[in-house]
Amino acid sequence: MNNDFTFAIIKPNAVKHKKTGPILAMINEAGFCICALKMTLLTKIQAQAFYMVHRGKPFYDGLIEFMTSGPVVALILSRENAVEEFRKLIGETDPSRAENGTIRKIFAVSVQMNAIHGSDSPENAVKEAAFFFSEFERFYHQEH
Ligand code: RTP
Ligand code: MG
Repeated sequence: MNNDFTFAIIKPNAVKHKKTGPILAMINEAGFCICALKMTLLTKIQAQAFYMVHRGKPFYDGLIEFMTSGPVVALILSRENAVEEFRKLIGETDPSRAENGTIRKIFAVSVQMNAIHGSDSPENAVKEAAFFFSEFERFYHQEH
């Protein structure tokens, strides 16, 4: 099994504004294979569990409200050095600080509505992927 993967979520603002296709194209063009994909509407309890690490921070309540405001697209993505390379592809959390050509620079509308999530470590990628996908929903057969 290929373990070099990351986990991503296309956030509600991007899905709502028909950016799922363009974002998936950028992800594939950057050399990532899609191992798993689903569209889902998070419940408040699911969003709170996913973002547990941010509980108590000033942006937490707004983040939960935003992440449950519409459907998201969850993804498992593989390529060499997936976590680090994907964080480069998405750019800084604050889109005004993101480099040109990054997904957030192109599609984010604010720090909160920043279009996409990417795991920040391989350990969190494993946890986050397991939160959304069973083994039956994963397809690691592709070359990269
Ligand atoms: P993510 O987890 O979504 O990939 O984003 P990240 O690592 O770049 O940023 P993180 O610090 O983990 O924050 C998680 C998400 O919370 C929202 N946020 N809002 N208003 C604010 O100051 C603020 N700070 C963070 C963003 O949606 C961010 O992606
Ligand atoms: Mg994060």
